[in-house]
Amino acid sequence: MRALDIIRTKRDGHTLSREAIDAFVGGVTDGTWPDYQVTALLMAIFLKGMSLDEATALTQAMVDSGTRLDFSDLLRPENGSMPVDKHSTGGVGDKTSLILAPLAAACGCLVPMMSGRGLGHTGGTLDKLDAIPGFRTDLSVAKLRKALAATGCVLMRQTAEVAPADRRMYALRDATGTVESIPLIASSILSKKVTEGIGALVLDVKVGSGGFMAGLDEARELSRWLVGIAERSGLRTQALLTRMDTPLGRRIGNATEVREAIETLKGEGPKDIEGLSVTLAARMLMLAGLADEDQAERRIRDALESGRGLEKFRQIIATQGGDPRVIDDPSLLPVAERESLVLAPSTGIITRIDAGGVGRAAVVLGAGRDHVDAVVDPGVGIDLLADEGDTVSRGEPIMRVFYRDSGRLEAALVHLRTACEVGDTAPAPRPLVIETIDIRTAKA
Ligand code: URA
Repeated sequence: MRALDIIRTKRDGHTLSREAIDAFVGGVTDGTWPDYQVTALLMAIFLKGMSLDEATALTQAMVDSGTRLDFSDLLRPENGSMPVDKHSTGGVGDKTSLILAPLAAACGCLVPMMSGRGLGHTGGTLDKLDAIPGFRTDLSVAKLRKALAATGCVLMRQTAEVAPADRRMYALRDATGTVESIPLIASSILSKKVTEGIGALVLDVKVGSGGFMAGLDEARELSRWLVGIAERSGLRTQALLTRMDTPLGRRIGNATEVREAIETLKGEGPKDIEGLSVTLAARMLMLAGLADEDQAERRIRDALESGRGLEKFRQIIATQGGDPRVIDDPSLLPVAERESLVLAPSTGIITRIDAGGVGRAAVVLGAGRDHVDAVVDPGVGIDLLADEGDTVSRGEPIMRVFYRDSGRLEAALVHLRTACEVGDTAPAPRPLVIETIDIRTAKA
């Protein structure tokens, strides 16, 4: 099929056939479609939308543009009926993957988790793992299998063979104002998840200033598309919409978030991060067929309270070449040598710690990327010393900033000072999980 005819079809608001979508993705992958034709079609999709069938076909074609992993032969009865993973749309201070993956694996799940690097104010799991001395995420397929068979969980990076069509399309979307299309976002995310060879997926769709989607309506819409496409692609899926208007936990950065994940697995972490990790891991257990709703959370809590989750994390770190001594001695994790305190501007109650502002401060310090090629510093970050709702006195330290460069510190402090508000009234408690969307509710 000619590229021009495919572009005209979508430009005029018609549906693309499976054959047309395959021809498009084939042309993106082998380079026979030049950038101007790829972007013309992406813009037509952005403006005219797609049906669920078209977006599912696009996802499938992007998966087939690269290598698909298959770990089904590693499944034992104690692993349930399928490998399972969790994906988050990304947030500030979100280190749940480092907690829930060991917890789910300690309860029997087979978890092949592929993670990306952070971009913008949301952190990436891969950057956090890179902060653990020696930890390797760039394993060959043979080593991935070996690690997964040994521990029940492997934490890996996206290689060049994973959905290469998505990589080219995403770079072009980024440069042409076509990222914010729900069918394109959903198929892009899922092309990488389907590639993992999983059978079930828990999605954590963040809502709020620190997430990818600030508003509830658009997050709900994205969740419905994600669940719809994932189920049509053969993944048993649930999406949880969770609040991301304030940072998760108290540590934001890379090494500092690994530290908080270890504290949480020791039962000494903040309640929000512990609660969300347990909830998401319990959903993984349910979707993998290892527990029903009544037992799942209890089993995950047992793994947490008995220390089996912590031991599993130690095992995962050792198996992937990392230094497992970080579990007992987190001072082995990198930390920037200079510190600065942010002080409460007045006496009162902390009414808001804005996730978006804290996330932007972390990027400015070097904990995240403002462009794809930026180099991340594992040792810089922000520790919150007080939470929303706490009473503080003027001049009392409310944040500790770890930094290397004074210029970056000054810019970060501007964001941090505006992110934190002190007033008279404590904010009303808001549940972390806003709602759950599955295949039944996605159709509503
Ligand atoms: N994350 C992705 O992987 N793809 C998108 O299009 C947006 C966010």
